[in-house]
Amino acid sequence: MLIKKPSDLRESDVTPKELFLARREFIRAASVTAAAAATGVLGAGFDDEASAQNPKAEKFANLVKSPLSTDEKLNSYKDVTTYNNFYEFGLDKGDPARHAHQLRPRPWSVKVEGLCDKPGTYHIEDILKWFPLEERIYRLRCVEAWSMVIPWVGFPLGDFVKRMEPNSKARYVEFRTLVDRAQMPGQREPALQWPYIEGLRMDEAMHPLAILGVGLYGEVMPNQNGAPIRLVVPWKYGFKSIKSIVSVRFVENEPVNTWKQQQAREYGFYANVNPDVDHPRWSQKTERRIGEFFRRKTLPFNGYADQVASLYTGMDLRRHY
Ligand code: MTE
Repeated sequence: MLIKKPSDLRESDVTPKELFLARREFIRAASVTAAAAATGVLGAGFDDEASAQNPKAEKFANLVKSPLSTDEKLNSYKDVTTYNNFYEFGLDKGDPARHAHQLRPRPWSVKVEGLCDKPGTYHIEDILKWFPLEERIYRLRCVEAWSMVIPWVGFPLGDFVKRMEPNSKARYVEFRTLVDRAQMPGQREPALQWPYIEGLRMDEAMHPLAILGVGLYGEVMPNQNGAPIRLVVPWKYGFKSIKSIVSVRFVENEPVNTWKQQQAREYGFYANVNPDVDHPRWSQKTERRIGEFFRRKTLPFNGYADQVASLYTGMDLRRHY
């Protein structure tokens, strides 16, 4: 991102670090059972490296595999949990795995405000009870031109939005991450303006591909991936997928998201994956799938064009990057 461009990345940056198994205490959520083994729950598909999961983490039971999943080869649990962007824990890709044990994902609540009929402060345990959880395997394409394939656990963001009954004035939804310098050491530095803020247009938020993620690889969301609840919007650059959400606000005007606030010339509000629009400092035509040697071609909307391109009919996506 602004702070580190792909050409600055050394090979050591992408060498998976030793898996950091934080001693975390999870309060058992209603839909979570410690007894269920992820492999049994999720069936075939996870490779051997799945066995390197955190043995202490709670596992989800009875996950339904979504037909919206890609069948591409998964990145290993180790890749997914040790090569992260989460600036609240530092700028290095290994910092989130190293420091995120300081985050306390329970108790946790999400405050819903703004132009809706069901504002309130909702406990994560209650939110988990509202919706059946699914396994969604999505490609994540970072703006830094690397990508991964991740088996998320979550539920449609649109179901959450509907439940909050936004009114007709609500045109956007804005999300904010926790601010707590004690839990998030990176916030002691002015690397970004805190809190991290993201937003979606209401029709984007209602699209069935957009989910709120609460886990991955069949287990409760590891802290470094945005515990206990984060956004996953697979057709947009990864920075839209805000982690550790504490606030959801329905608003009339386009929210000023963190990266646009930081450097509007380089990062826009829409951030749709687009191989034809270069970042001012690097090309977006290709990407490096973590764990692979050869680069891949980047696909429009990260390969989800058939499902989402119609959201942007009539828009100049070079201007609205
Ligand atoms: N959310 C917060 N709060 N802080 C961040 O620094 N980084 C974003 C996004 N969400 C970020 C965040 C970026 S740039 C990416 S690519 C994805 O998280 C990475 O998600 P992952 O580490 O789970 O792969």
